[in-house]
Amino acid sequence: MNKKEHVPAHIAVIMDGNGRWARQQGFARIRGHKQGVDSVREITRECAKKNIQQLTLYAFSQENWKRPQREIKFLMKLLKEFLISERKEVEENNIRLTAIGRIQGLPDDIQKEIALSIEKSRKNTGMILCLALNYGGRAEIVDAAQAIARDVKNGKMNIGEIDEETFKHYLYMKNMPDPDLLIRTGGDMRVSNFLLWEISYAELWVTPVCWPEFRKEHLEIALNDYRRRERRFGGLG
Ligand code: IPE
Ligand code: IPE
Ligand code: MG
Repeated sequence: MNKKEHVPAHIAVIMDGNGRWARQQGFARIRGHKQGVDSVREITRECAKKNIQQLTLYAFSQENWKRPQREIKFLMKLLKEFLISERKEVEENNIRLTAIGRIQGLPDDIQKEIALSIEKSRKNTGMILCLALNYGGRAEIVDAAQAIARDVKNGKMNIGEIDEETFKHYLYMKNMPDPDLLIRTGGDMRVSNFLLWEISYAELWVTPVCWPEFRKEHLEIALNDYRRRERRFGGLG
């Protein structure tokens, strides 16, 4: 693979700025979420086309429950519609859908649609589309710590066996490669509790462009920037 074609294996995206975008247009915040679905569709299709192995989208954080009930309800409705309407697109693009987060904390009907989408796309061999739902990076680490403690208590593992590699296997997605590139739209320079363990050496790319207007041209700029980065992982270049 030559340098020009070099793409990240795993891209993670903090899809932010929906509300601000809507406000700027004089609409209610929820209009931004609705418009954001178009961005999800375009970026997913584009990443699949570019042979990205995995695209992880931060769709709903554990902290987003703090929002007004009306907005949460709308987001859940949108998520359900998305899961149902995108099944055909997922199938046509050979995409395997997965989810990370405390899925058991989502409404029952949403859990059902997630399970069905995962099941239907289970055998697909193309890009993995991973939705982070009711996701918190600290919660993920705490959940892993509890599962490890349980296994140690039950005699399945010794304390001495807990290293970074085994720890990783207790995270929400066992075989997930770490993100190479973390994109955040909406301009804020923070990680907002996203993939705290996994982004240790991710390349960060923040754009002021809000998610509802983020299109493949913007993705292209991010990928070009990524290609120019020198990743040293603590070593020498
Ligand atoms: C991101 O957009 C979508 C979710 C967090 C669900 P926001 O709703 O956070 O939009 P801003 O950041 O307030 O503009
Ligand atoms: C991060 O955006 C969460 C998602 C994109 C789902 P937020 O809007 O919730 O993050 P903060 O509150 O600005 O840090
Ligand atoms: Mg936000």
